[in-house]
Amino acid sequence: MDKPIGVMDSGVGGLTVAKEIMRQLPDEQIIYFGDLRRCPYGDRPLEEVRQYTVEVADHLVSRGVKMIVVACNTATAAALSDLEDRYDIPVIGVINPGARSAIQSSNNQDVIVLATNATVNSGAYRDAIHHINGGFRVTSLACPKFVPIVEELRYKDKVVVRVALHQTLKGLLGTSADTVILGCTHYPLLAGEIRDFFGGRKNVIDSGYETAREVSSIMTYSRSHAAPGNRKTHVMIVNGDSSRFEYILGDWIPFIDYKIEEIDLEA
Ligand code: SIN
Repeated sequence: MDKPIGVMDSGVGGLTVAKEIMRQLPDEQIIYFGDLRRCPYGDRPLEEVRQYTVEVADHLVSRGVKMIVVACNTATAAALSDLEDRYDIPVIGVINPGARSAIQSSNNQDVIVLATNATVNSGAYRDAIHHINGGFRVTSLACPKFVPIVEELRYKDKVVVRVALHQTLKGLLGTSADTVILGCTHYPLLAGEIRDFFGGRKNVIDSGYETAREVSSIMTYSRSHAAPGNRKTHVMIVNGDSSRFEYILGDWIPFIDYKIEEIDLEA
């Protein structure tokens, strides 16, 4: 089916998921929506995030997408079930795939979730993990310094990143958990440093791979894969200034065909 896949995030973080969808499903066209003007979602009340998420998803549906991928953990925690009720197309969040990946990776059933304040307070990861396996110990930590580092393009500044990691994560260094879930789609841009911070002794889970795999299996069941060779120009919709977005896109997913559309949704 030659309709695009809609992918949304508060900003650039969802590109980590879009990149994996493009890698696993190169014939699919993506319409990505980055709500930069209202980013970060993670410090806002869940009800406000729910409203923004519905507004953005409505926009993607109006563009004729065949599926919506909520590539933002905070938006998934706030609005996934509302979106599932609202549309008759599949809606996929990143929390269940992240939870599944962590369960597959952990050998001692002891995991850490790093996420935004809103995601941590929602308890969505703990619930998703316990829904599958109630025996897991889940420790959650809010990391509000991390999203601004990525959105403000400071993720390559090793000093800035290491100081933020040390300030935020030092209490976790001696813990027994063998697996760390990156419970925010911005955090994979810091994944190497996070891995190093724990001395390579903890598995670091980025939900992008498992989310793209879920997108692929749902399309197999619904027979909605794009025709082979159907490579199209991706569409990047940015609420706000697109220059920062394009910098990260070029750095993170170079060599793709895309066009940018700036949009003006109220802050
Ligand atoms: C945010 O907008 O604060 C982070 C996005 C996420 O939770 O994945």
